[in-house]
Amino acid sequence: MAEPPPLLDLVAGMRAELAAGATVLVRRVLDPDHGRGRYAGERVERGGAVFLHRPYRVWVDLAERLGLRLLTPVRVDDTVVELRFERLAAAPAWTTDRDDPTETYGQASGFRRIHKAEDPGFVLDLALALERARLPARPRILDLGCNTGDELALVLALAPRLAEVPEVFVGIDHSASAVAAARARFPPGLARFVRADLAELSALELGRFDLVISIDTLHSPGVDDRAVLRQVVQEHLTPTGALILGFPNCRYVDGELEHGTRMKNFREPELGLLVKDVAFYRKYLQQHRRQVFVTGKDHLLVTAVARPPADAPGDDAAGREATT
Ligand SMILES: C[S@@+](CC[C@H](N)C(=O)[O-])C[C@H]1O[C@@H](n2cnc3c(N)ncnc32)[C@H](O)[C@@H]1O
Repeated sequence: MAEPPPLLDLVAGMRAELAAGATVLVRRVLDPDHGRGRYAGERVERGGAVFLHRPYRVWVDLAERLGLRLLTPVRVDDTVVELRFERLAAAPAWTTDRDDPTETYGQASGFRRIHKAEDPGFVLDLALALERARLPARPRILDLGCNTGDELALVLALAPRLAEVPEVFVGIDHSASAVAAARARFPPGLARFVRADLAELSALELGRFDLVISIDTLHSPGVDDRAVLRQVVQEHLTPTGALILGFPNCRYVDGELEHGTRMKNFREPELGLLVKDVAFYRKYLQQHRRQVFVTGKDHLLVTAVARPPADAPGDDAAGREATT
């Protein structure tokens, strides 16, 4: 029986077709359902032929790494499915308004099309982070770089009791159009949105908060993330206040989410700066009496919560943290 080609051969073949200008690639492969319970690369014999099992995750990951979209597989026969991959359009910049950097993520930009509440990893990680934050009965929550308030809406959906707390949310963003949309979205008694630059945080005299959230914002050009973090910890957190900081480890291309942050001049994902920043935030927050959890895949979340009393039982991660 002929040996099936290894993954590297498939990659080489697909890359060669793409280099020759193909926009659609077609491969006939073993129906992954026939390999249920096997790991990728394990052999499956069917009808006198031998195949390597490749679960859909392999094909989805491969498509993502080669800049392709996997279409719905079509059954060819009892054994084989046909996979069609189409080439993604090049990644566009979010906005056409290059004169006003505060509107890069404004309502006229493509960022409006992104709904993180539909990203299972983000939603589940945020839910866990919120649980760990152990908010008091009537908390104050600050969101830095709130845009139209997506994460606040998610927090509200995860903790509906917060809808009864007057002015539970304060959101800051420098985009006028995003702030206007946020104001229209939430009842005024529940949330306050301020159009301001994060560099002006101290001057806004917002007081202290039980939770400060900042999702995919601190790394933005022009934001001094270290200075903002210092100010938040020193001036805007209650003594037991929690932080949830999010950092993108992905990019959006032609309707798809590609895993891995890109650094300037790198075509492939490069996580060096992200890892360095996350390590800094983690250490800084630990030094400020917080227990820190780092979770996530396409969006990394750094969650910092007040340390429990020394003898209180924590969850596994908390226990490990306390002993290292
Ligand atoms: C990538 S978006 C993230 C928005 C939202 N947190 C989310 O995750 O969907 C970054 C947000 O930060 C805001 N932003 C960037 N730099 C800022 C600054 N210096 N001051 C205030 N807001 C800023 C942008 O306008 C934008 O709404």
